[in-house]
Amino acid sequence: MSIVYITGGATGIGAATVRKFASSGDDVAVFDINGDAVEQLSSEVDSGSVTLFETDVRNRASVRESIASAASDLGPPTTLFVNAGVQKLQGIFEMEDDDIDLIIDVNLKGTLYTVAEAAALMRDAGKGGTIVLMASDQALVGKEGSIVYGATKAGVAQMAKSLSVALSPHGIRVNAVCPATVKTPLTEHVFKWLADKHFDGDVEAAWAAEADLLPIGRVADPPEIAEVVYFLSQPSSSFMTGALVPVDGGLTAQ
Ligand SMILES: NC(=O)c1ccc[n+]([C@@H]2O[C@H](COP(=O)([O-])OP(=O)(O)OC[C@H]3O[C@@H](n4cnc5c(N)ncnc54)[C@H](O)[C@@H]3O)[C@@H](O)[C@H]2O)c1
Repeated sequence: MSIVYITGGATGIGAATVRKFASSGDDVAVFDINGDAVEQLSSEVDSGSVTLFETDVRNRASVRESIASAASDLGPPTTLFVNAGVQKLQGIFEMEDDDIDLIIDVNLKGTLYTVAEAAALMRDAGKGGTIVLMASDQALVGKEGSIVYGATKAGVAQMAKSLSVALSPHGIRVNAVCPATVKTPLTEHVFKWLADKHFDGDVEAAWAAEADLLPIGRVADPPEIAEVVYFLSQPSSSFMTGALVPVDGGLTAQ
């Protein structure tokens, strides 16, 4: 049984990952601003445990306090999945300062704050551990309207590499997943924007066009990403650290 800390575990990929770990019997601490969705998730799982620690990852004090509470209630983490993220599409000529700040604060600073607090607990416990960061296919390819988001995800990918070097002496492995498009609440907004811009508001046509871009011919479901996160957290991936793992239906193989 492991103690698993997951940020952004309320919905989408994070929720699928919470279900995966809990169904394997693990104790999962979820750090999210969406407490209601986590409570709902917690009532659904019938093995392991799911505990909410309401947290805004943009705020270092909030991250520090929540992680200290989780450590006191459950113990230090053996696995950390840093998944909380936001996306807002904007063209280069329409970017709003507030949106730029939000995306950088959640995706980049939030990742840094979370790793700094949780990795210190792993180091002090002296038993090593695994960290998985949520990057994106946008660590590897560019996309229209996704300039700030792409920059933050490339930053997260680079962070995985530097962290793997910094934390290896403590027996802590750090890898990042780079998924292509997954059907989640986050992409509902994205595809509304794309539909309005290119498909006369036809959201289904926008999704179909996205599926056509992937050699595998479809977008992903959240559990398909959760399985890879789970693998990267287990001893079966023991020689992997500093890796950027595409989970992208072949998008970046082209
Ligand atoms: N859906 C995709 O196509 C896709 C592809 C690649 C990467 N990603 C990344 O996967 C991660 C999860 O996204 P998702 O698609 O499951 O969307 P989602 O919106 O369902 O999940 C995002 C989660 O982050 C939480 N969150 C947002 N702001 C927060 C904050 N300030 N503090 C704490 N929690 C906060 C949300 O409440 C939610 O639980 C994100 O980092 C996203 O960038 C998504």
